[in-house]
Amino acid sequence: MGDGVNSPRERRCSEGGAFYNADMNTPLNSWYARWMALSLVGLIPATLAQAQDEEIDFEKQIWPFLERSCVKCHKAPFEENGKTIKPKAGLRMDGAWAFKAGSENGSVMEAGNAKESEIWWRTDLPTDDDDFMPPTDKADPLSPEEKELFKKWIDQGADFGEWVGNLEGKPKEVSNTGEKLPVSEIQETYTKLSEGLAVPKEDMWKEVTAAGGRVMPLATESPLLSVDFRLVREEADDAKVATIAKIGEHIAQLDLSKTSVTDAGLAPIEGLKRVVRLDLNQTGITDAGLSHLKGLENLNYLNLYGTGVTDAGLKQLESIKSLKNVYLWEAKVTDKGVKSLQKALPEAKIVWK
Ligand code: HEC
Repeated sequence: MGDGVNSPRERRCSEGGAFYNADMNTPLNSWYARWMALSLVGLIPATLAQAQDEEIDFEKQIWPFLERSCVKCHKAPFEENGKTIKPKAGLRMDGAWAFKAGSENGSVMEAGNAKESEIWWRTDLPTDDDDFMPPTDKADPLSPEEKELFKKWIDQGADFGEWVGNLEGKPKEVSNTGEKLPVSEIQETYTKLSEGLAVPKEDMWKEVTAAGGRVMPLATESPLLSVDFRLVREEADDAKVATIAKIGEHIAQLDLSKTSVTDAGLAPIEGLKRVVRLDLNQTGITDAGLSHLKGLENLNYLNLYGTGVTDAGLKQLESIKSLKNVYLWEAKVTDKGVKSLQKALPEAKIVWK
């Protein structure tokens, strides 16, 4: 048998406890370098290489071929001839949360790193390998283009976009997209944050809605709100984001991902002490913007994927002791900066490459 230490399976198994990957010095570290390497050996056609910066849409570009080639064996249990057919290896691929939940052997997908993701490398083996997926003659294999797209999607961070899929069987403590919410802790936080706060009237957020934002109570009769701009994305500029000021004290979840918000545009967030979750991924935010986060004393989840944040910005996060989940893929941070943040926030899960 081969050198077990270097096989992806071995590495996958040793991953478990590490919250960030300290091995920063892989030669093909940047997107561009990885892409160039692939292009040079002719694995991808030039037209695909040109599209390297475009973000892949899971539902449109990935789901159709996974549904065709994988899902019949990797989906929720179903009855057939009086027997319950369970998903193979306990792995379901029919819901966003399920991909992240992995199989009976643990995680199969490392967002941001396709090569370390069993769900991808199994499709990239020689077709006569026992581990090749889908099993030979049982379903159509992925075409080279599909494999490349699948790889790129995982490398980009495995964002499911609006796609949720099948929620049947989803544990309570994970969100629809598979983020772990320590349910008791988070719910306690929400209960505490709701105390003494009146349920807001809908016309309090008509300006947010007019600006393209979506506002939803966290639960029926909850005074806490979730706000996102996913319907308008880059059209949401600072002025539009500023409309949230009126409902600021009610906001528990704020998703500004892919908007045009600038560092200065985060000023309205300052001091919003009920914000538990903040998505700033794929925005132009830099270190300067993070200075507005200081008063967020209940912030648990912060997504800075694809932003201009550097190690200096991470320094400003060190004082937010409530932080438990920090996402830094494709931000401008280094090994050193992430280590220092991990030291300041020992309980936090920091994901960055
Ligand atoms: C015909 C049924 C079938 C299809 C279709 C199929 N698989 Fe599988 N899959 C299996 C079986 C059986 C196993 C368990 C045996 C093994 O590990 O090889 C498995 C195991 C796996 C595992 C390993 C899980 C673990 O941690 O042990 C991964 C990852 C996987 N499949 C991915 C895929 C992907 C991706 C596709 C589509 C490209 C796919 N499978 C299509 C039957 C299938």
